[in-house]
Amino acid sequence: MNWYSEQEFSDLKKQQEILAKCRMPKHIGIIMDGNGRWAIEHGLTRTEGHKQGIESVRDIVKATAQLGIPYLTLYAFSLENWKRPSSEVGVLMNLLEYYLKKEIKELNANNVRLLSIGKISSLPKKIQRLLFDAIELTSKNTGLTLTLALSYSGRWDIVRAVQMIAHDIRRGNISPEDITEEVFSSYLQTAPLPDPDLIIRTSGEMRLSNFLLWESAYSEIYISNKYWPEFRREDLYTAIIDYSGRERRFGRISSQLKQEIPNHLEKVKTEK
Ligand code: IPE
Ligand code: IPE
Ligand code: MG
Repeated sequence: MNWYSEQEFSDLKKQQEILAKCRMPKHIGIIMDGNGRWAIEHGLTRTEGHKQGIESVRDIVKATAQLGIPYLTLYAFSLENWKRPSSEVGVLMNLLEYYLKKEIKELNANNVRLLSIGKISSLPKKIQRLLFDAIELTSKNTGLTLTLALSYSGRWDIVRAVQMIAHDIRRGNISPEDITEEVFSSYLQTAPLPDPDLIIRTSGEMRLSNFLLWESAYSEIYISNKYWPEFRREDLYTAIIDYSGRERRFGRISSQLKQEIPNHLEKVKTEK
């Protein structure tokens, strides 16, 4: 139940090594892809692939919390995924319900704050209620913020923000000149989250598929060839180590960048 006491020694050591050497991302987004292909290649049904994917979710959420990374956003179901055969959509909704029912206690006990982004009103009522209750229950938690992207589309969120801004202009709350990037961001559902530093996509596909389009402007992208059901904490560590070696220039040139100090060292420095 307690994620911080049940770790194996070898894993703890590996995590400490990563923390000591790496610049850690503050926010990781994951496009969890490849459940179907994993299942087919193992002679199983797509449903089995989605079920197995939940095991990866469990392991990655735990590992992220143990590393002290403050934000994790998981792309679990896109707005476009409603176009899949209704039988598969049904399976995914059932699994989502199962996950929420089964995991929420443990997430709460481990100080995880749950959030969701996406067109939640299009989810079955039962799931909306479960989500709402889980978000409410964990709202005061101060550990990992786990955001589930459900019935989500980056373009949908951008259009929704534009509509809300238009309404506010009509009501006289703001004027067009007030709209800056910061103001625009504040209308997105992702407003409580920092932009993702690292976006991981599994299954070798090299596209965003409508995930965090605005927010990913300067995200580092890591593609894993593993299918989601086989992606585990070791693979997450590999992605973080890879990220840590990237030079994030944000439009500048190398010589302009000051030597970056890993997060935890910065903390040690200021504590002295
Ligand atoms: C990811 O796996 C899960 C969802 C998109 C809901 P897929 O179901 O997309 O698996 P593949 O890409 O068909 O292998
Ligand atoms: C992206 O995967 C959506 C999620 C992982 C939830 P898809 O499998 O739906 O993406 P495409 O269709 O291959 O781009
Ligand atoms: Mg897919």
